[in-house]
Amino acid sequence: MDPWIVASLGLTLVTVVVAAIAIRNGRELTRALATVRRLRAAEARHDEAIAQGGAEQAGLLQAVNAGVLRIDPGLRVLAANAAAHALLGRAEGTLPGRSVMEAFLDTGVESMAQVALTQGTARTELRRADADGPTLTVMGRRAPGGGLWLVVEDVSELRRLQRIRTEFIDNLSHELRTPLTTVSLLAETLSREADAIDVGLPPKMRDRIGKIEVETGHLVQMVNELLDLSRIESGGTLHPVDGLDMARLAAQSAERLRLFADRQGVTLRVETSDDVPAVHGDGVRLGQVVVNLVHNAVKFSPDGGEIVVRVRHEGDEVVTSVQDHGVGVPRDAHDRVFERFYKVDRARLRAEAGGGTGLGLAIARHVVEQHGGRIWVESDEGTGSTFSFALPAAGDVKR
Ligand SMILES: Nc1ncnc2c1ncn2[C@@H]1O[C@H](COP(=O)(O)OP(=O)(O)OP(=O)(O)O)[C@@H](O)[C@H]1O
Ligand SMILES: [Mg+2]
Repeated sequence: MDPWIVASLGLTLVTVVVAAIAIRNGRELTRALATVRRLRAAEARHDEAIAQGGAEQAGLLQAVNAGVLRIDPGLRVLAANAAAHALLGRAEGTLPGRSVMEAFLDTGVESMAQVALTQGTARTELRRADADGPTLTVMGRRAPGGGLWLVVEDVSELRRLQRIRTEFIDNLSHELRTPLTTVSLLAETLSREADAIDVGLPPKMRDRIGKIEVETGHLVQMVNELLDLSRIESGGTLHPVDGLDMARLAAQSAERLRLFADRQGVTLRVETSDDVPAVHGDGVRLGQVVVNLVHNAVKFSPDGGEIVVRVRHEGDEVVTSVQDHGVGVPRDAHDRVFERFYKVDRARLRAEAGGGTGLGLAIARHVVEQHGGRIWVESDEGTGSTFSFALPAAGDVKR
C-alpha cells in the first residue's frame, strides 16, 4: 500500500482516538463543573443558615430577661446581652472587653468563674455595690468552645419575701411565747393539784388535765424551735471559739438525753477516738445539733434499740454521726427531712415519745452550714438510719 495512504489512515485513527478521549474528558469536565457548582450552592446555603442561626441566637439572647455573658478562657467578656448591661448597671455595649472583675466588681464572681472553668458549673450571689442595688445570682457554665457562659438573675424580690417570712415567723413566735408559757405553767400546776387531790376528781377529768399539760408542752417547744430557727436563719447568732473538742461536746450532749433514752428502753453508746482534731465552732449550737439528732434517734427507735454516737477524723474534717436501728428514712425523703416542717410519716411516730414539729433537722442543717460544714443521712427504710455532719478540722485538741 502507498505509504501516504497508510500515513493518512494512521493520522485519521489517531484523530478519531484523540477526539473520543476529548469528548469523554469533556463530559467528565462538564460533570465536574456541575459538581463544583452544586457544592458552591450548598456552601452558600450553609453560610446563609449559619448567619441566620447566629442572628437568631443573638436575637434570643437580647430577648431573654436574664443577663447572659460570653466569657473567654482569660475571664474577659466577649459578648453580653442588654439584660446583662441593665442588671450590672452599665451602658449598652460597655461590657465586652472588660475582665469579669471589672464587669462585676466582686471577687466572689471571679472565683466562681475560675471554679466553673475547672469544674463545669458554679454559682454565687452578690449584692450590687451601689445603694439599693439588686441582689443578683450568677451561674457559670463551661462553654463547649472554651471559656464560659455566665447567666445573671435578679433575686432581690425573692430575698425580700424570704426576709419578710422570717421576720413574720420571728414576730409571731415572740408574741405567742409569753401567753403560751403562762398557759403551760398553769396546766402544770393544775395537773399537780389534781394529783394531790386523792378523792373526788373524776378520772376522766384528771386524764384531760394531763393531756392539756402535754399538748401545751408541745406548743411551747414548737414556738421555741420556730424562734430558734428564725434567729439562726437571720444569722449573727454564732459565738464560735477556737479549739472546740467535738468528741467531748458530742459525749456531753448525748448524756443530756440518757434519761429520755432509758425511759424509752433504748441504750445509748458514745464512741470517740483520741486523734480527733479541734474545730472552730459555737459549742452551744453544735451541742444542739447533736441533741436534735440523738433525740430523733431515740424517738424513732424500737424498744431495746441501740444508738451509737461516733466522732471521728476523716481527711480534713471531723465527722459526728448518730446511728440508730429504728424505722429508717425512705430514700426519696433523704433531702426532704432537712426541710422545715417536713415529717416522713406522722402516723409512725411512737405516741409515747411525744410529737414533733419537723424543725429539729432544719435547725441542725442551718447550724452545720453556718459552720461551713454539711449534714446528711444514710438510711434504708426498716434498717435504721445514720445521720452525720462534717465540720472542717481546725487543729489540735487541747485536752
Ligand atoms: N433517726 C430517725 N429515724 C427515722 N426517721 C427520722 C429520724 N430522724 C428524723 N426522721 C424523720 O425526719 C423528720 C424530720 O425530723 P425533725 O427532727 O426535723 O422533726 P421532728 O423530730 O419530727 O420534730 P422536732 O425535731 O421539731 O421536734 C421526722 O419527723 C422523721 O419523719
Ligand atoms: Mg427532731
